[in-house]
Amino acid sequence: MGAQWGDEGKGKVTDLLAEQADLVIRFQGGNNAGHTIVRDGEEYKFHLIPSGILYPGKACAIGNGVVIDPVVLLDEIEGMRRRRVDVSGLKISANAHLIMPYHVLLDSAGEARLGKLRIGTTRRGIGPCYADKAARLGIRVQDLLDEAILRKKIMAAMEPKRHMLRPHAKDPALDLHAMTEEYVTYGHRLEPHITDTALLCHETLEQGRTVVFEGAQGTMLDIDHGTYPFVTSSNPVAGSACVGAGVGPRAIDEVWGVAKAYVTRVGEGPFPTELADDVGRHMLERGHEYGTTTGRQRRCGWLDLVALRYAARINGLTGLAVTKLDVLAGIDPLQVCTRYRHGEGAVFDEFPYHQSILHSAEAVNEELPGFEDDISGCRTIADLPAAAREYLEFVSGFVGVPVKLVGVGPGRDQVIWADGEQPLRAVA
Ligand code: GDP
Ligand code: IMO
Ligand code: MG
Repeated sequence: MGAQWGDEGKGKVTDLLAEQADLVIRFQGGNNAGHTIVRDGEEYKFHLIPSGILYPGKACAIGNGVVIDPVVLLDEIEGMRRRRVDVSGLKISANAHLIMPYHVLLDSAGEARLGKLRIGTTRRGIGPCYADKAARLGIRVQDLLDEAILRKKIMAAMEPKRHMLRPHAKDPALDLHAMTEEYVTYGHRLEPHITDTALLCHETLEQGRTVVFEGAQGTMLDIDHGTYPFVTSSNPVAGSACVGAGVGPRAIDEVWGVAKAYVTRVGEGPFPTELADDVGRHMLERGHEYGTTTGRQRRCGWLDLVALRYAARINGLTGLAVTKLDVLAGIDPLQVCTRYRHGEGAVFDEFPYHQSILHSAEAVNEELPGFEDDISGCRTIADLPAAAREYLEFVSGFVGVPVKLVGVGPGRDQVIWADGEQPLRAVA
């Protein structure tokens, strides 16, 4: 899971864990996600396909909790084929909901209407699609396989939106018949991948094999537990893996939170540790903090341990994967936020539930020694400079969760397994 506001490096961590897994399944979100993996100097970007796909033939599933834009998915599949990546192991849930052209239009229209109060969405139609799912007006992957049903469902879904879609009345993308035909074509192309992914998950687990549930977005963007309304429209937290993949809570043994050694956020919303100074610029430049999906500059700030401890609690984390520690090299001293201050003297040790408090909360930081050395070549905890080790120990101690993995660069080998070996291999 993402333990912050997204872009923590989930793609890289999933790719590493996937090597030892028998199935990797995404369970929520859609192509608002952007997961970058760097292998042998080559960069791969995924929006919908699970990050395990780079292992030939690996079973990778898009679960029922994901919202799928079929155009984007087909494009991604095609892009993988062009790069000679074997996508035969890709499975798509028949129950996953589809992003339709009107969802994308409504996402942008909603943002425009909000004006200064906008959320800063990725404008991929995510919110409107989940809204239709909850309103029981959604179109699902299985509907692509029956043209008559599909047409009826699209008609029913568009009916209550007529007023909002009026400015787009002449848009050919919204023509009922053309849309139906186009989506039927997508159905034909996706059909070989469509299956009951919950059953696949169950069978894999029954055989005593390993499943990795890959989260998208992050805890602070969770629609229930994040900084509402500046959140996404799904639940990126651990509990959601059960719902979005179709397994019971007892199926899950380990919950790893991926967190950067600092914090970034894309889009609007509160961010108590945000930096508008040279340190923030250092993080932006050294960390190449530009969004994978929209190319937007990410907002950067000190590591927020109040929010991270909250994420540990909400997700029930059993391990932390701390990424991008290398980016902090050259910042001395380092700071981490350990509480919030609000107004005249009010202090918060726990993440405040009240939106107004959070919006004007100030970070109270603790100073830790920095390190100068480039750590991208370190492969064991002992290789790290003392200040980097102290930083990790402080984080782990404060949050109460052991650090399992440390990222020291974007490459798949630029990683430190804190226990000295890959965890899934150790289990097997
Ligand atoms: P995700 O959405 O959580 O999968 O994260 P993104 O892929 O959007 O953003 C993380 C970025 O950081 C990607 O460009 C990764 O290649 C890169 N990255 C991941 N881990 C590390 C690390 O340990 N150090 C550095 N320098 N870059 C990393
Ligand atoms: P990954 O999986 C970072 C943010 C958007 C916006 C808010 C709502 O790569 O970590 P949405 O389009 O979901 O309705 O936008 O959520 N957001 C992300 N930020 N990483 C992501 O995904 C995100 N997905 C959505 O910027 O603030
Ligand atoms: Mg991302």
